[in-house]
Amino acid sequence: MKSHYLKSALLSVSCLFLLAAIPVSGQTPSQSASSPKQEEAKALLACAQMVADELGVLKIPNARSLRFQGKVSEATALCRGGEQAVQFRGTPWVDWSSYWGTGDVTSLPTGFVSSKLPAHRGVAGALVDLELQRVELIKFNLFENSGTYADYVQGRNGVAGPALKVWPEMRLQPASPLYKEVGGDGAQVCKGDLIRWRTETGVCNDILNPAMGSSGMLFARNVEFETSFPDLGLNDLTRNRHGNRLSLMSPDPQVISRRLFTRVQSDPAKCLDGFGLPGDSKDANCDYEKAPFFNVLAAYWIQFMTHDWFSHLEEGHNQAEYMKVGCETKLVNNVEQPLTPEDIAKLGCRPDDRIDKGYVAQDAPPDTFSSGGQEHLARAPKTMRNSNTAWWDASQLYGFDDRSRQRVKRDPTDAAKLLLVPVPGQAGPGYLSILSPSDPINPEWAGQEAAGFPDNWTVGLSFLHNLFAREHNSFVAEFRRVAAKTPDADCGLRDPAQPKQVIRYRDVTPDQLFEIARLVVAAEIAKIHTIEWTPQLLYNEPLNLGMNGNWNGLLGANSGLLSKALSDVVAKNFGKSSDPTKATQWYSVFASGPGIFGLGSKVNGYDITNPKYTNGGVNHFGSPFNFPEEFVSVYRLHPLVPDLLEYRDLSGDPNKIVKRISVVETFQAKATDFTHSMGLANWGLTLGRQRLGLLTLNNSPLFLQNIKIPRLDSKTQKIDVVALDIIRDREHGVPRFNEFRRQYGLRQLTSYDDFMDPSAAPGTPARMEQERTIQTMREVYGQHVCDTSKVITDAQVNEDGSPINDCLGHPNGTLVDNIEDVDTAVGYLAEYKRPHGFAISETQFVVFILNASRRLFSDRFFTSCFRPEFYSTLGVNWVNNNGPGPAQMEVGTPNGHQQPVSPMKRMLMRNIPELSPELKTVVNAFDPWARDRGKYYSLAWKPRPGAEADDSFSKPQ
Ligand code: HEM
Repeated sequence: MKSHYLKSALLSVSCLFLLAAIPVSGQTPSQSASSPKQEEAKALLACAQMVADELGVLKIPNARSLRFQGKVSEATALCRGGEQAVQFRGTPWVDWSSYWGTGDVTSLPTGFVSSKLPAHRGVAGALVDLELQRVELIKFNLFENSGTYADYVQGRNGVAGPALKVWPEMRLQPASPLYKEVGGDGAQVCKGDLIRWRTETGVCNDILNPAMGSSGMLFARNVEFETSFPDLGLNDLTRNRHGNRLSLMSPDPQVISRRLFTRVQSDPAKCLDGFGLPGDSKDANCDYEKAPFFNVLAAYWIQFMTHDWFSHLEEGHNQAEYMKVGCETKLVNNVEQPLTPEDIAKLGCRPDDRIDKGYVAQDAPPDTFSSGGQEHLARAPKTMRNSNTAWWDASQLYGFDDRSRQRVKRDPTDAAKLLLVPVPGQAGPGYLSILSPSDPINPEWAGQEAAGFPDNWTVGLSFLHNLFAREHNSFVAEFRRVAAKTPDADCGLRDPAQPKQVIRYRDVTPDQLFEIARLVVAAEIAKIHTIEWTPQLLYNEPLNLGMNGNWNGLLGANSGLLSKALSDVVAKNFGKSSDPTKATQWYSVFASGPGIFGLGSKVNGYDITNPKYTNGGVNHFGSPFNFPEEFVSVYRLHPLVPDLLEYRDLSGDPNKIVKRISVVETFQAKATDFTHSMGLANWGLTLGRQRLGLLTLNNSPLFLQNIKIPRLDSKTQKIDVVALDIIRDREHGVPRFNEFRRQYGLRQLTSYDDFMDPSAAPGTPARMEQERTIQTMREVYGQHVCDTSKVITDAQVNEDGSPINDCLGHPNGTLVDNIEDVDTAVGYLAEYKRPHGFAISETQFVVFILNASRRLFSDRFFTSCFRPEFYSTLGVNWVNNNGPGPAQMEVGTPNGHQQPVSPMKRMLMRNIPELSPELKTVVNAFDPWARDRGKYYSLAWKPRPGAEADDSFSKPQ
């Protein structure tokens, strides 16, 4: 089944470019088909039409205003999804989600001669749309803040900007202790031990741009600088768009939190604001909307990931200066009025809360430059630093600077290992040791386990940190086992100082083995995230293929010659091309064939002393890598977290929930206590079986709205983290939702009503709930009388080519929704219409399409240096096979595919063997462990055989 999709997808991807010159022809008739056979015939006719149509429509445009917005021609929709896909074209949402085969079994056509072929067209078509989006994103959404942007636009020394590969702004500064080592004020090139492993601060990942992605570099942007910081009203477009209605506190963030984010409780006395009942009674209940196909382990996983990728805070705090956080105003008839004491009591918000202001790196007016007759800002009006390394380097475990490294404890009896200590009453290889008072820590971290990134420590983070520390040691133990057996064998490693000299197992020092284990663990994390966590977050066939494509390539893990050939084409030709089209768009498309992981690592004559090879597989697409502020925004995923954890005991009946423990009681040192007293196996079972919270409005944890933070210098010492999410995005200048979508090449909304799911029938509970929320949105964000003379954006134009104005298609002078003011985090949670199996919304997803692949494309250790010289032969095999020995295959064909036992499942079984019987039937460790996955991307909440008695399947839920 898979190969059909892949061939169609690759063919279509190639057609997309090769046939771009043929003009668009006429329209397809759209009268509806009266029988399945007629619809089938009509769809086939449309496919022929599509071939002609697509050639014009799918050309990569030269102007950002001409992007395809995820919308295809009528013929294309008909060919890939029949009449219902044609109907869907009228909505703002991406078309591929209504193609055949992109949902569960009900997305396959019935009554056709074969449902297979249409499904192939649908899924392949979705992959083409997604790849097209990625190419457009690479072309239009890279804005780097460190001073490289002018070169990106204008080029340098005859090389076009998107093809540039080295930037002076990515040099180490004289204050760096490594300044001399990389070349001082001459050409800077990393060498020797600096290129062998991941460094403490992330320098020298890119050999020619030592500072790129290292701790303390600036966050980038994915939106035009001019459109960021809309609250400041710095230009006509932002002023016209928001009409002086915005500021850091308007609309009021706590009012937004209480009215649009609060989880409504059927029995508040059983929830007690998220604290549950005394003694962790299992009779407690906090209602939350659950995602049936994603478990709580997945929620903590993504918190664990963000702690690897970025942090605006330094050591868990911001500036010394404090600010108010709202609970002051509301709109009455579209006019801002102070809240009355009664309003405050009714909302339950707190005007006396205070928080430390976010750090700002630069806020002086940015330089400007002109190019092509247009004036550009050289950076955003304000910039912020990422205090973490931007690399996917497991820095949450291993640290990201001198201070955090001191918190990472090595085993004094074997420096290659992390320190694990026995815990009374718990079996197995031990647990992470506790931070000691002499460690560089904040007082609130005392008593927690030792970790590079210790902030916001929870029982879920404790679980994952312990698991990966065990995994680190498992790899070291296996390396030592092989070394003991064959001490003189070539372990595959090479030293750039003596590249020809074989390194035997016996030659590897404990310090070197520690760094190899780190490389392996970081690659395993990236693999789990790419092919296990994400396909469950986005549970449908196109995304399953797409994510596996990012890793193994659309051609499959063992695609041999073709994979290698394509990989060579990409790395040798397009990656080094000075033609920006080849260097960026073609590169991305062709990388879908062989996959990004290992790209450029299989070239002949590989030489570890030559950056042409070691750096040869990376591509930054002309814009040095760091995460954009917009990426942080879409990772504010707090609704994933339930208020109460349904605790289970593996030694008893796993089907029984024995306690309901409030999450807030498993915070900081209490997390460590819980891990130690109950053990990793029970926590694995607990987190694995419970469903996480759906990312939607009115589904944020109650405890996070009322969390006590003793370090705060305020009357309440409490903070509403949900309101803070809104405030921080505003501090970081994230454009509001509608402009955010336009900037990312998605279709804008023209009123709050556009959030409604078109498939929710009037009068149904779902529809009524959506109508209520939309009404609340109208009250909170308000309306205004619109003015067609005010142009509000340059990111897109109307269908007739005219500029988009304040009325968004409504008549001049009418009262319209302030849809432009909706905060991005509110908007993306309000998207009721999503592709099948999407735990996130399409607006969040589009940010991932670009940045998740860039995170792989830019990292030498995931591309050209994924080789035995760096990882050891054992390390490469361990990552490829998901552990020691050969790959193990899963029983049967889940969702129609043969697949290896997933990396996270194997890691759990390896390091917490007590979980093996429970995991036997689990295919994806992030799908609730007792759920029956059904046949084809089912989202049903149904027990698997043997789990019928599981409490979470009994009513009421
Ligand atoms: C019990 C669980 C959690 C607690 C107590 C917690 C707490 C917090 C707090 C207090 C902040 C505010 C920092 C500030 O800007 O001053 C924050 C930020 C954030 N949280 Fe959480 N969080 C939890 C779970 C999660 C999860 C599951 C995610 C999922 C990705 C997440 C993602 C984020 C992100 C992206 C930020 C912004 C960080 C930055 O700006 O660098 N959190 N969290």
